Amino acid sequence: MLADVRYWEKIAQKNHFAIPHFNVWNVEMLEGVMDACEQENSPVIISFGTGFIHNTIFEEYAGMMVSMAKHSSLPVITHWDHGRSFDIVKNGYDYGMNSVMRDASQLSFEENVAETKKVVEYFHPLNVGVEAELGHVADPNKYEKAMENYKYTDPSIAKKFVDQTHCDSLAVAIGQVHGVYTSKPSLNFDVLEKVSNVVSVPLVLHGASGIPDDQVSKAVSMGICKVNIHTDLGIAAMKAFNKHRDQLYLEVQKYVREGIKDEAVHKIHVLGSQSKAELKLDNY
Ligand code: 13P
Repeated sequence: MLADVRYWEKIAQKNHFAIPHFNVWNVEMLEGVMDACEQENSPVIISFGTGFIHNTIFEEYAGMMVSMAKHSSLPVITHWDHGRSFDIVKNGYDYGMNSVMRDASQLSFEENVAETKKVVEYFHPLNVGVEAELGHVADPNKYEKAMENYKYTDPSIAKKFVDQTHCDSLAVAIGQVHGVYTSKPSLNFDVLEKVSNVVSVPLVLHGASGIPDDQVSKAVSMGICKVNIHTDLGIAAMKAFNKHRDQLYLEVQKYVREGIKDEAVHKIHVLGSQSKAELKLDNY
């Protein structure tokens, strides 16, 4: 069933687990993660974003995302990830995404507040939860290089940001980057603790692929309620593809779906979202 991200992030916050957010942009990914969530009885966020529009026509693919969400017995949220403008985010909503992220984290604090606020004011009357980002999770790069000018979330302005924007969840930059790490990442738990102490909205960890499991689960235990995963699904897909590459594509595709499923199952256990699909929140 289609579910409300704000409701499920609150459940995750109260019960100390994180909802998996899987970026999906083809059939194998969508079916693979849904297979995993059905098997593990996990709530899930299936998500699309601008980075995938050269692979897949979102406006067509969204129909499949929404259809699978509706037909599932699990709580499924359809999400637009890293919306770089109001119009991009609105297009996601117009085609069936019921949760959005407005990512203005590359702009100044004031501009980030203004851009996020505009999206919140439009979407709250429509019952759509809005995620924002403060600090900046760097894009694929050499990890050491990215860390030189890394924009950590500043705990001293995090509360002001949430109070001024009324965003429903906050993505934090705590030493992680998107994509493949070129050396072992190390999350800054000190920053996470400080942000967690001043902000009451659920916190989000982007760029979770490649971060050691113990660091991800520690982050979840410290208040991360949603974890974004993309690259590791692709790596699992490629492993399955390479292992079975001599067979017909018709068969290889099934192995790829299975490889993605296994990786998603692993992530679900790291986040502790297994067997959580029936949880309820009183007084919501
Ligand atoms: P990874 O590709 O590093 O898993 O990051 C995904 C992400 O954060 C999407 O928002």
